[in-house]
Amino acid sequence: MTYTITEKADLTHLNTLGLPVIASRLIEVFSLSGLITLSEEGFFRKENPFILGGGSNILLKRDLKRPVLKISITGIRVAEENDEDILIETGAGENWHKLVAWAVERNYGGIENLALIPGTVGAAPIQNIGAYGVELEQVFESLQCYDFLNDTEKTFRREECGFGYRDSIFKRELKHRFIITYVTLRLKKKNHIPNTSYHALAAYLEEKNVINPNVGDVFDAVVAIRRSKLPDPELLGNAGSFFKNPVVDKSIHQRISKDYPEVPAYPAAFGQVKIPAGWLIEKAGWKGRKVGNVGTYENQALVIVNHGGATGEEIYNHAMRIKESVKNMFGVELVPEVNVVE
Ligand code: EPU
Repeated sequence: MTYTITEKADLTHLNTLGLPVIASRLIEVFSLSGLITLSEEGFFRKENPFILGGGSNILLKRDLKRPVLKISITGIRVAEENDEDILIETGAGENWHKLVAWAVERNYGGIENLALIPGTVGAAPIQNIGAYGVELEQVFESLQCYDFLNDTEKTFRREECGFGYRDSIFKRELKHRFIITYVTLRLKKKNHIPNTSYHALAAYLEEKNVINPNVGDVFDAVVAIRRSKLPDPELLGNAGSFFKNPVVDKSIHQRISKDYPEVPAYPAAFGQVKIPAGWLIEKAGWKGRKVGNVGTYENQALVIVNHGGATGEEIYNHAMRIKESVKNMFGVELVPEVNVVE
């Protein structure tokens, strides 16, 4: 079986916000040959599909008239290795956390800080997922994708992906041009130096008296920290951080710090600073606040949650109210990290 088709598909369980959206058609593809068959049947000439991964970073505002293409290509395999490094090639449809756990079990270093990030492996490079001091680009080797306009396969190496903070070429110039099929990561078998630079991670390890953390210690710590701060989408619908942390000129941070000397800031490129959006949203009074079926998470103001029964429009309107009040209070423009699908 290379693909399946469901007419009028309910996507409630295919998006982590749990929005009850209906897609005119859902096509689930299990292999590259499935994509090729679809292409030969003229699918990509006739349709403009929405590509779905794990549905953990999308806000579906309404029912989708376009067909939805869910990429379920699986498999984790060793592509190459030497004494020190190992290249792991993974199907785009594998669950990201499953890959992290697979690597940690074998003591391969590099992605332990990225534990518990919801979503699929194929979606990871699109927004260059990152957490606790590590971003995907640091371990990314290459990806394979299917160019459905030209019916060819293509490989992108790291330097061709234009990675930035929660950003890549696949979110910009190449949006809707390629379907990612496989991702290859370069992990460490030997001489791995765990990254414990992130404040919350270092503090957690110190509290537990872990002096020289190994891959498993960092993984356990990240899992514990995330569980304490971020809601489990199985229990409370959410899409992780709703907005990006804004990167602003130092002068803006200085202006805010006149009224709020405690405002946090982290260095960013070009002499700018990153201010945690969660801090701005909390100061604007939104943390833990519930409006109808929608709310802001009580332990992390950057996460918008569906308390049950919310629609995409409601979530979107809530987000826009937050954006407006942060703008009015601090003069800082929040930009969604979540992909808003019209
Ligand atoms: N903060 C508050 N109030 C809040 C939340 C945060 O004041 O309600 C302040 C605190 O000063 C805290 C700081 O913000 O020290 C940073 O908070 P946290 O460590 O939770 O990280 P974040 O900047 O809010 C980012 C990522 C997360 C990632 C964590 C850990 C973005 C948009 N988000 O959040 O990624 O897990 O760092 O590295 O960059 C995601 O992308 O979906 C995601 C969850």
